[in-house]
Amino acid sequence: METFTLSNGVKIPAIGIGTYLSSPEAAYQAVRWALEIGYRHIDTAAYYQNEEAVGRAIRDSSVSREELFITTKLWHTDHGRAREAFQENLGRLGLEYADLYLIHWPLPGFVQAWDVLRELEDAKLCRAVGVSNFLPEHLEQLSSVPLVNQFECSPFLNQHELRAYCRKKGIQTESYSPLTRGDKLHDERIVSIAKAIDRTPAQVMLRWNLQHGNVILPKSTHRERIEENFRLDFTLSPEHMKLLDSMDEGFRKAPDPHDLAAHFGGRR
Ligand SMILES: NC(=O)c1ccc[n+]([C@@H]2O[C@H](COP(=O)([O-])OP(=O)(O)OC[C@H]3O[C@@H](n4cnc5c(N)ncnc54)[C@H](OP(=O)(O)O)[C@@H]3O)[C@@H](O)[C@H]2O)c1
Repeated sequence: METFTLSNGVKIPAIGIGTYLSSPEAAYQAVRWALEIGYRHIDTAAYYQNEEAVGRAIRDSSVSREELFITTKLWHTDHGRAREAFQENLGRLGLEYADLYLIHWPLPGFVQAWDVLRELEDAKLCRAVGVSNFLPEHLEQLSSVPLVNQFECSPFLNQHELRAYCRKKGIQTESYSPLTRGDKLHDERIVSIAKAIDRTPAQVMLRWNLQHGNVILPKSTHRERIEENFRLDFTLSPEHMKLLDSMDEGFRKAPDPHDLAAHFGGRR
């Protein structure tokens, strides 16, 4: 399986299974299928309320812990108690360490929380630490450069500038909602590229992201889709990449980090 290497040398599988909006039962089943299909990277969060089910699916599988890359996240209401919150993440997952721990949103207290995350990494309780939904203005407030920034990215939310900024700083980018939660799978340009190369619209959107060097975290609770999203062993031509690059329209499913007050009730 394709991997990227973080700037501390840790290898990260390029495709991870997303678990947001999956009930515990659905997340359990999706992770079991994903591990059977060959995924070795799972993305969860305290906020998703499915960490216990994800942990159970891991233990019930035949895949050993060392082969897996497990990401979880710190919710902003826990910024002032990051160490305790992290132990709670691990407890729910039933793990002794996480592979990647992320600050979920750049909301108040993230600067102090970051220093605690660095201590967790130093203590080898997680192999890598990073952030999510951070813009350059947030990244520049941290005491050190994170290894990873996870943010929304698809051909319809291209994130060219943020990706270039992260690349320059050596920050690995991860794309969430890479399938626009399904909304753009019927776009006629995506459908026509898919037809031309005998792939599906989901595979075209995911491959675009991967080919730009981003880790991708597609979520599905259907076995055949989980499999489809993992079969990306093809290359998009420069012409198709260029066409996909031209589709940016600022289309978002998650809150815009430029305006968190609008979503998180005045908190900044
Ligand atoms: N850090 C953050 O703030 C943040 C925010 C959002 C998401 N994330 C992470 O990123 C992951 C992915 O993002 P997302 O869940 O928002 O959206 P997504 O992966 O873009 O889309 C998921 C949706 O697409 C459908 N789908 C999946 N594969 C498909 C296929 N091959 N064909 C047709 N439809 C398909 C799924 O339906 P079914 O499930 O019914 O198959 C689901 O409704 C999350 O699960 C989470 O782990 C992180």
